[in-house]
Amino acid sequence: MKNIEIKPDIYWVGAVDWAIRDFHGYNTPNGTTYNNYLINDQKVTLVDAVKYEYCSSTIENINKIVDISKVVNIVVNHIEPDHAGSIDMIMKLVPDALIYITERGKKGIERYFDTSKWNFKIVKSGDVLKTGKYTLLFLETPMLHWPDSMVTYVKEAKLLISQDAFGQHIATSARFDDEFLKSNSQVELDDAVVDYYANILMPFGQLIKTKIADIVKLGLDFDMIAPDHGLIWRTDPGGIIQKYLDMANGRADLRVAVVYDTMWHSTEHMMAPIIQGIRDEDVDCKAIKLRESPMSFAVKEIWKARGCLIGAPTINNVMFPSLAQFLYHLGGLKPKNRIMAAFGSYGWAGGAVREAYEMFKRIGVEVMEPGIQIQYRPSSEDEEKCYEFGREFAIKVKEYHKKFEE
Ligand code: FEO
Repeated sequence: MKNIEIKPDIYWVGAVDWAIRDFHGYNTPNGTTYNNYLINDQKVTLVDAVKYEYCSSTIENINKIVDISKVVNIVVNHIEPDHAGSIDMIMKLVPDALIYITERGKKGIERYFDTSKWNFKIVKSGDVLKTGKYTLLFLETPMLHWPDSMVTYVKEAKLLISQDAFGQHIATSARFDDEFLKSNSQVELDDAVVDYYANILMPFGQLIKTKIADIVKLGLDFDMIAPDHGLIWRTDPGGIIQKYLDMANGRADLRVAVVYDTMWHSTEHMMAPIIQGIRDEDVDCKAIKLRESPMSFAVKEIWKARGCLIGAPTINNVMFPSLAQFLYHLGGLKPKNRIMAAFGSYGWAGGAVREAYEMFKRIGVEVMEPGIQIQYRPSSEDEEKCYEFGREFAIKVKEYHKKFEE
């Protein structure tokens, strides 16, 4: 079996998780990979570990290149268990290895493992490790996306090992973007990038811009970005950086995502004329029924669209639970540069639409007010109102979208 050499004497030694569909609540229909890298230099250095379940697989990959006992350094770019979960197993094999980690990383990893016998070297931005022919430069990236996070730049290899940043949840036999694109589409790859960004990195847009600016300022020359999930970017690493900058700046398409649920189809009945109204304003629209779709799918669709409508029935004077859960989760993701409005049906008293607007304000998105609510089943007059609501929302979305095109 061939080893996967990504640069001279630098190897991918990670694992492909074909089966995972629930990544801490995030639906991953295409699985994922846990990438880590072995620098087989004079001082053999492992950059990141893998998820606990894949420990034996990464050890096997390392042993095919060099006996694991030769590993003298371990770089921990990020302590989340999908990467650092197997480190105690590895440390049992190389107990004298020196762990390069940020101060916050050390404090965090001590909460997961008994580290009392481990050797640490605390690093901060600008610190370097010479492994022989290679120089590793560490750059802290706090809150991208954990406090401990950092990236490792391998100067002579022009390689940026970026931990979670620039990743995608795709399980594939391809390791590089160009390999993947030989038999898969660019659309599929772009969709995976957006899905990952929306569900993991959406709250950190401002930090992403700052950190990318820092990297540009340092003038780092790299022709490969190797993330900890999915494909390694070697065709056009500048392209994925630009995509991240666009998303961090709030890039979205001129379209509307309708995230809804329905009890006895009344809210769904409202949706048909609303979508017709949006369509008649030449704005594309996609509806996602929450109980039939993973929440992460709805998050991605919202992130792709400039406008979002919430269709929420009222139950016991409050919002239907799936929508309440979704908006609560969205509040944590802090979407920026999006416009939202709400509609829904109720029986004896409303509540859901009012609550939706309260949540929009907490999230901090633009809103179109008022929303629209209908008692029981919409009449033909109500349907007309819904149609006009859809048109009016599409017009507002178009106006709002112009701000981002200037
Ligand atoms: Fe892939 Fe933040 O761990």
